Amino acid sequence: MHRMVIRMKLVIFGPPSAGKGTQAQKLSKKYGIPQIATGDLLREHVAKKTPIGLKVKAILDAGKLGPDDLIVQIIKERVSQPDCMNGYLLDGFPRTMNQAKELEKMTDIDLVLNIGVDTELLVERAVGRRICPKCAAVYHVTFNPPKKTGVCDKCGSNLIQRDDDKEETIRKRLKVYQEQTEPLIEHYRKKGKLMNIDGSLGVDGVFEQMIRAVDRLEK
Ligand code: AP5
Repeated sequence: MHRMVIRMKLVIFGPPSAGKGTQAQKLSKKYGIPQIATGDLLREHVAKKTPIGLKVKAILDAGKLGPDDLIVQIIKERVSQPDCMNGYLLDGFPRTMNQAKELEKMTDIDLVLNIGVDTELLVERAVGRRICPKCAAVYHVTFNPPKKTGVCDKCGSNLIQRDDDKEETIRKRLKVYQEQTEPLIEHYRKKGKLMNIDGSLGVDGVFEQMIRAVDRLEK
């Protein structure tokens, strides 16, 4: 794949299982800027049973949002690392108006890529999702299967299902998204930073729209 490095700070926005992580990983590889996924960072804490992990495990399993102050702290620490000097892709942050305001105090975001997908398709994507616990690669049993069933193409680890991908929990997460996160769309639209992306297409079709939006901004 053609690799270039851009100096940009992007937000990949959208409801649970819209494809944020899938696209952020592809964009990160293409543009040479790191993906910062709050969900992945929190799951890493849970897996390692750190004090943060112990605090947020029940919250994640219930499909609720973690506390703003903790999430903002995690983001601040991550973006201050040297690999973020040229920019980064925020995946899953901000998710509340408070988080958006804190982000504005920290930096200027160049573009918010908002992935839109119908609710029933979101549920189907979440229920069939499998992830690699080691390298965080994302698959789907039907839409994006690994070459060998249950095994990560990238690192060979056994794939797992996320604890919060049960149908009941995903519907809860969608409700939380509508109540607490969706209002940010209007916030970023008013700021002229929003680009809507049709997330109902396949992985490559969504990626093409994203590249077009980023490259337009680069020119
Ligand atoms: P997080 O991990 O961020 O979960 P999420 O936002 O609910 O998003 P997902 O990871 O579920 O989905 P995604 O959009 O990345 O989709 P993916 O690419 O995997 O957060 C988890 C939890 O952490 C939250 O519930 C909360 O508790 C906490 N948290 C995180 N951030 C927080 C914050 N800022 N504040 C407070 N709490 C926070 O794709 C989904 C599936 O679809 C995959 O199987 C994939 O293979 C497939 N797929 C992807 N694209 C396509 C396509 N175009 N066509 C067909 N299939 C596709």
